[in-house]
Amino acid sequence: DIKGFAFDLDGVITDTAKFHTVAWRHLAEQLQVTWTPELQESLKGIDRMGSLEMILQAGGKENAYTQAEKEGFAAWKNEHYVELISDLTPDDILPGIAAFIQELNDKGYRASVASASKNAPFILDRLGLTDSFVGIVDPATLHAGKPDPEIFVRAAEILNLPPEQVIGLEDAAAGIASINGAGEVSLGIGDATVLAAADLNFANTAEVTLANIAAKLD
Ligand code: G6P
Ligand code: MG
Repeated sequence: DIKGFAFDLDGVITDTAKFHTVAWRHLAEQLQVTWTPELQESLKGIDRMGSLEMILQAGGKENAYTQAEKEGFAAWKNEHYVELISDLTPDDILPGIAAFIQELNDKGYRASVASASKNAPFILDRLGLTDSFVGIVDPATLHAGKPDPEIFVRAAEILNLPPEQVIGLEDAAAGIASINGAGEVSLGIGDATVLAAADLNFANTAEVTLANIAAKLD
């Protein structure tokens, strides 16, 4: 029986994926790396330095900069990103998600957050959702980011549940791989061809309810 839920943040709870895109794209243009839809999709769920490496690689510039320069680029991107998210309010919670989290709390399910983002505590606070979760995995303590299973393993530990009693919610292929590797039930939100490895697929957040999940689990 399912007893808990591990939530990705960007693209699942709120549409901050679009702000990551704006900020990375701006940096890519500064570095003269061509931006493509494929590059954009592949960055979802990938941590900050990992995303920078993928952008540099896409432009054939993986050996063009020192570590100190790369850290400068990542910090510059983050400053831009933090500016873009500074005005978030509870109105920026994606459709249906506030009601779903309320439903989970009312019915005694436990929920945790498995986001690669170091900005996650700030964002949850802006959205008024901090108290809705048992806990948040601190991505600074991970050995490997998504698609490695570690973050979703830790999210189940926070819930104090075995992985098979946990559903992980994700909008990124790297995140679905992490959930599957952790032995949890994977719920993909978005393009079902991109998220083909998910156990359950939902087109958008508005469809995510306990009743709809139960119907798909049968
Ligand atoms: C999430 C997003 C990624 C982002 C990562 C790190 O996984 O999907 O696009 O790169 O978090 O976010 P941060 O806020 O720490 O740079
Ligand atoms: Mg995401």
